[in-house]
Amino acid sequence: MVLLLRTFVKTPRQAWTMRRFYSSDITASAMVYSEYGQPSQVLKWHSYRLPALTSNTVHVKFLASPINPADVNMIQGAYPIKPTYQKLDAQDDKLLAVGGNEGLAQVIAVGDHVNELKIGDHVVMAKTGYGTWRTHAAGPASDFQLLPSADNVSMIQKATITVNPCTAYRMLKDFVNLKQGDYVIQNGGNSAVGQAVIQIAKAWGLKTINVVRNRPDIDVLRKELLDLGATHIITDEELSSHETRALIKSWVGNEKPLLGLNCVGGKSATEMARYLGENGKFITYGAMSRKPLSLPASLLIFKNMSFHGFWVSKWADIHPQEEKYQMLQDVTDLMSQGKLAEPKWTQVKWDEETMKQSVDQGISGFATGKQVVLF
Ligand SMILES: NC(=O)c1ccc[n+]([C@@H]2O[C@H](COP(=O)([O-])OP(=O)(O)OC[C@H]3O[C@@H](n4cnc5c(N)ncnc54)[C@H](OP(=O)(O)O)[C@@H]3O)[C@@H](O)[C@H]2O)c1
Repeated sequence: MVLLLRTFVKTPRQAWTMRRFYSSDITASAMVYSEYGQPSQVLKWHSYRLPALTSNTVHVKFLASPINPADVNMIQGAYPIKPTYQKLDAQDDKLLAVGGNEGLAQVIAVGDHVNELKIGDHVVMAKTGYGTWRTHAAGPASDFQLLPSADNVSMIQKATITVNPCTAYRMLKDFVNLKQGDYVIQNGGNSAVGQAVIQIAKAWGLKTINVVRNRPDIDVLRKELLDLGATHIITDEELSSHETRALIKSWVGNEKPLLGLNCVGGKSATEMARYLGENGKFITYGAMSRKPLSLPASLLIFKNMSFHGFWVSKWADIHPQEEKYQMLQDVTDLMSQGKLAEPKWTQVKWDEETMKQSVDQGISGFATGKQVVLF
């Protein structure tokens, strides 16, 4: 067999391609799809033998993976990153994409030539689009990013670290040189990103004005966000009223916020932009209302405001490994110090029907917390 492989294999890539068809004794399961559509219609349960370990690969077992809005958009074919269709089985030629983009895995086997990882390490995915709704994966060490080790950081915090806390961290750090006591205004204040913004801002001495959608039990949500460290909460319905304008003026005085974070789009975003000060920056990272962003020209002409987008996947693609690790280290430290709490979450059972229903619900509003699969 070894002689045969040597005859055909010219490059490490070919070697990997050949060897991956030889199975280990681990039976893996995954939620997969091969066409775009409504998640419950196109997602399928798939069991397969994990490829055998080679000298340059590792085996990981997944511990926990969340269901994020982008995962749903990706299955619907409405996300800029296209799924990676891959042959998961030695015995089956079907090309399948594994759902999910974020998750925590533990290294369970390491090839002889792998130096970057060891058995027991906790890892996250190095790139978006890897496919994290699966029990196991095999691949080169470069597919995975080692997490900094830290005390008092839960499995859920680690499984949800790369998307939401890192997005909040970058948006607070990269656009405006904020100083202690400065205000940041955001909508989607109760989203997972929004809650990370509230907590990181508080840890860095910043104040936040948080816009949330009104609801019958708004006081419960208000209290939750204030307990997390939010400075002020207002509802989207209050946003354009004279009273709210006066109230916000009484909070910020002449120091209007210079950073606005937009998760929602539509009317909420237009109204929020009006509260930014001269030369303010308005960062759009989500479009949960699915409504277009409409902005008065006066904000550009008379206030010289600028409008930007942020996408953490792109950031991760174009920044060096050391910067990514530094960010993970900073975020993990905040978690370890109790300054960035575990997100509210609900457990999703790892079975086909529950997964299908849960993914369908992945972008419905008024959710009670992040849905996380525990394997
Ligand atoms: N650009 C990036 O790098 C990046 C990174 C992370 C996340 N995101 C995006 O950020 C958004 C939030 O993600 P997440 O994981 O934080 O989500 P999440 O925890 O599920 O929260 C969703 C948020 O959207 C609000 N929402 C849902 N439907 C809405 C609607 N029809 N109109 C207005 N608001 C609505 C929810 O408010 P209610 O409670 O009132 O329903 C909640 O605040 C998503 O669009 C996601 O794709 C982008």
